[in-house]
Amino acid sequence: MPTAFGSLSDATALSGPAAAPAALPAHWLPALATNGLQTLTLAGRRLLPIVQGGMGVGVSAHGLAGAVAAQGGVGTLSSVDLRRHHPDLMDRTQGLAGRVGCDADTKLQIDGANLEALEREVKAARQVAGGCGLIAMNVMRAVSDYAAYVRRSLEAGVDMVVVGAGLPLDLPDLAADHPKALLVPILSDARGVALIVKKWERKKRLPDAIVIEHPRLAGGHLGAARIADLNDPRFDFERVIPESLDFLRKAGLEGRIPLIAAGGIRTCEDIGHLQALGAAGVQLGTPFAVTAECDASDAFKRVLAEARDEDLVEFTSVAGLPARAVGTPWLRAYLKIEPKLQAVAHAKTRCTKAFDCLAQCGLRDGTLGWGQFCIDNQLAAALRGDLKKGLYFRGVGALPFGSQIRSVRELIERLLTRGLDLPQAWSRVLPEAALA
Ligand SMILES: Cc1cc2nc3c(=O)[nH]c(=O)nc-3n(C[C@H](O)[C@H](O)[C@H](O)COP(=O)(O)O)c2cc1C
Repeated sequence: MPTAFGSLSDATALSGPAAAPAALPAHWLPALATNGLQTLTLAGRRLLPIVQGGMGVGVSAHGLAGAVAAQGGVGTLSSVDLRRHHPDLMDRTQGLAGRVGCDADTKLQIDGANLEALEREVKAARQVAGGCGLIAMNVMRAVSDYAAYVRRSLEAGVDMVVVGAGLPLDLPDLAADHPKALLVPILSDARGVALIVKKWERKKRLPDAIVIEHPRLAGGHLGAARIADLNDPRFDFERVIPESLDFLRKAGLEGRIPLIAAGGIRTCEDIGHLQALGAAGVQLGTPFAVTAECDASDAFKRVLAEARDEDLVEFTSVAGLPARAVGTPWLRAYLKIEPKLQAVAHAKTRCTKAFDCLAQCGLRDGTLGWGQFCIDNQLAAALRGDLKKGLYFRGVGALPFGSQIRSVRELIERLLTRGLDLPQAWSRVLPEAALA
C-alpha cells in the first residue's frame, strides 16, 4: 500500500501479509545485521535501536516523531507548549496575559489549548507512523502542568511516556490506569537508576526502559546539579552503563530494563560501542532536529546544523538546571548581563505571560543563581528561527551530514552504516562578531 513514506509492503514483510504493519520495516534488517547492531525490543515490538529524543518547544511534534516511527524507531513528541503549531489555538490564547486580575483563568485557557494541541499532535503522529515504530511523549518533570500532560498523553494513546528534567517518582501513580503504557525516566548516573527502580518497585511497577543522558554531551536541560559537575566521570557511559547493569543484575532484574544511551551519539560506530557496553539502544536529539521532517523552521535547523562545538555554551536555565545551547547573539548578550540580572532578582507577583509554564521559575520566583529570562519566549523564538531572540538547545559534536539538512530516512541509513566519516568542515551562519 503506498503511503507518504513509501510502501507499507516493506513493513508487513516481518509479520506476514494478513497482519498489521510490523513495527520495523524489513528493509533495515540487512544493515543491522551487516553492521553488527542489535534491534531494540519494547512492548514486545522489535524496533530499530534508535530513539529520537523529545525536543521542545515544538521542535519534535507530529512531523518528526511520526517520520521516525514510520522507519521503525521510537518517535518522541515534546509536550511543552504544542499550541504553537496550531494557529487557531494561538489565536484563542493570544493577548490573554495582558488582562489584569485574570491570571488563573489565563493559565487555565493556555493549559487547555496546549492539551488540545497535544491530542491533535498524537493523532497526527500516529497517522504519519502508519502503524510502525512507537510513539512516545516527552514530559519535563519541571513543568507546572506535568501531571496533566502525562494523563492526557496516556488518554490520547501514546505508547510510551518519557520524563526528564527531574525525578518522576510519581509517574507510576499517574499512569495507574494505563498498565500497558511504557514508562521511561531519563537519568544520568547509576545512583539515579538504583533510586528510581527501588522507589517504583514499591509501587509495583518497573521502568520499561531507562534513558541514560550524558550531561557533558547532550543538548537542552542537563541532568547534573551544577555546571561544574558536567564533566564528572560518574556520568561517563563507560561507567554508568556497566554500573547500572550490575545494580539490575543484583536486584534480580537482569534483562528486564533496557538502557538507552543519549548525548553526542553521531555514528554507527557510536551505536556499536554503546551496545557493546550493554546499552540496548541510543537516543539522539540534535541530528534529528536538523532533518527535513523536523517541525521547527528551516532557520532553526540551520543554526543547529552550522554551529561548531566551540560555539556551544553551558549556562543555568530558569528551571535551575544546567543547559547547553548554541551561543547565539541573544544568549551571549544575556550571559553578559546575567550577573546584573541575578543581583536584582526578586520574586514577582506573577509570571509575565500568566502561563507559569515551570513549577519553579528563576525569573518569576527570583531564585538566586537560576536563569533570569522567559524560557517559553526564547524557545518559541528559536522555533521560528529568530536569531535575535531565540534559545537554540544543541548537543555536542559534528553532525552526521555536517551542515546539510537531510531526511529522517537518510539519517537512519547513515546511522546504520559503519565506516562513514563525520564531515568536519562546514560554513557558519552566525555572524563572527556575534560569537566573539
Ligand atoms: C533543541 C533541543 C530541545 C530539547 N528539548 C528537550 C525536552 O523538551 N525534554 C527533554 O527531556 N530533552 C530535551 N532535549 C534533549 C534530547 O531529547 C536528547 O536527549 C539530547 O539532545 C541527546 O543529545 P544529542 O542532541 O547530542 O543527540 C532537547 C535537545 C535539543 C537539541
